[in-house]
Amino acid sequence: MNNFKRSIIVTGGAGFIGSHVVRHLIKHHPDYLIINVDKLTYAGNLENLKDIENEPGYLFRRIDICDHQAIMRLMTDYNVTGIIHLAAESHVDRSIEDPFTFARTNVLGTLSLLQSARNVWEQSPEGYDGKLFYHISTDEVYGALDFDGSLFTESTPYAPHSPYSASKASSDHFVRAFHDTYGMPCIITNCSNNYGPYQFPEKLIPLFINNICHNRSLPVYGEGLNVRDWLYVEDHAAAIDLIFHKGTVGETYNIGGFNEKKNIDLVHALIKVTDRLLGRPEGASIPLITYVSDRKGHDLRYAIDASKLQRELGWTPSLQFEEGLERTVRWYLDNREWMERVTTGEYEDYYKNMYADR
Ligand code: NAD
Ligand code: TYD
Repeated sequence: MNNFKRSIIVTGGAGFIGSHVVRHLIKHHPDYLIINVDKLTYAGNLENLKDIENEPGYLFRRIDICDHQAIMRLMTDYNVTGIIHLAAESHVDRSIEDPFTFARTNVLGTLSLLQSARNVWEQSPEGYDGKLFYHISTDEVYGALDFDGSLFTESTPYAPHSPYSASKASSDHFVRAFHDTYGMPCIITNCSNNYGPYQFPEKLIPLFINNICHNRSLPVYGEGLNVRDWLYVEDHAAAIDLIFHKGTVGETYNIGGFNEKKNIDLVHALIKVTDRLLGRPEGASIPLITYVSDRKGHDLRYAIDASKLQRELGWTPSLQFEEGLERTVRWYLDNREWMERVTTGEYEDYYKNMYADR
């Protein structure tokens, strides 16, 4: 047992969004114990949490979410009453190459985690009382929209296309099944594309900032006309905190930035900010744009209607896109060593050795 008011597991806390969620919770709930459960795949990097790793309310455990026994032991040892589940394989292009890894972690891993939570909580004296399993998902489960101004709402039927979104849709269904069948207290949120510091440079924004710095080509898929709705990652973390504490059990909430951008327009905006901050003449990096073959099954447009969250819990994004983009580019330029280590895989060897025997 411990002296904290509450112990919460955040899975995937060493990843991009997870690290912001952990930092946000440590900062806003100093009376909580935040247990970061992460397997440390290529996308997990404990360096993302260097600034808070010595906080008394922070604990890291290197565990695979599929490890049913280890998760149950951890939940029992620390009397865990909340799980915020972010651990996943998250990159669409990788899912097209290797769908099985996505099924293992996103589908079976989520199911295993649900089963662990169910076993521990059902057997505790208060049962499910005061407990919550909060599953973080994506807008990609809804499929793709046309250029007709329509938006994904919480009642849009699921129609995933990529192996990634199929695996996330499947995990969402399992979470709902545990709520509907066993009465487990669950909430799901489906969020649009996040951007900000600590994102692995395989995703569009950090990849392109890094390539601009190194004068490498910028591979725009297809004609660059696909549309994504972008949300600054700290706004997502704030929404997760709010929903974890104030959301209604059994509900789904969409989270979005009200900020649709065509890929090619986003790339031009990125070039503009990055060139300026690097002291290059305006437009110097435009020739780096290279149109390449389209992604297989590339979803045309995602756009989120987040009005339910706004209406019911009063959440709204705090940052304008221009400011978020400027902050993001500045962060990557100021943290080029992080980028170097991540792209060379140096950190992976370092932390794998460090936690090898845990
Ligand atoms: P990420 O790839 O940056 O991080 C994923 C983390 O999960 C890593 O730290 C990794 O080590 C860990 N992990 C992977 N498999 C694991 C396993 N079997 N056991 C324990 N840990 C494991 O991902 P992200 O972009 O931060 O996304 C986090 C979550 O948010 C995912 O569930 C994703 O589907 C969802 N999401 C992401 C976005 C986005 O724009 N990035 C948008 C909406 C929803
Ligand atoms: P990405 O960051 O991979 O997120 P998601 O596929 O989950 O939306 O990609 C964002 C958009 O950018 C998507 O439409 C694919 C496109 N894209 C490129 O054009 N080139 C690239 O090198 C990458 C990684 C993505």
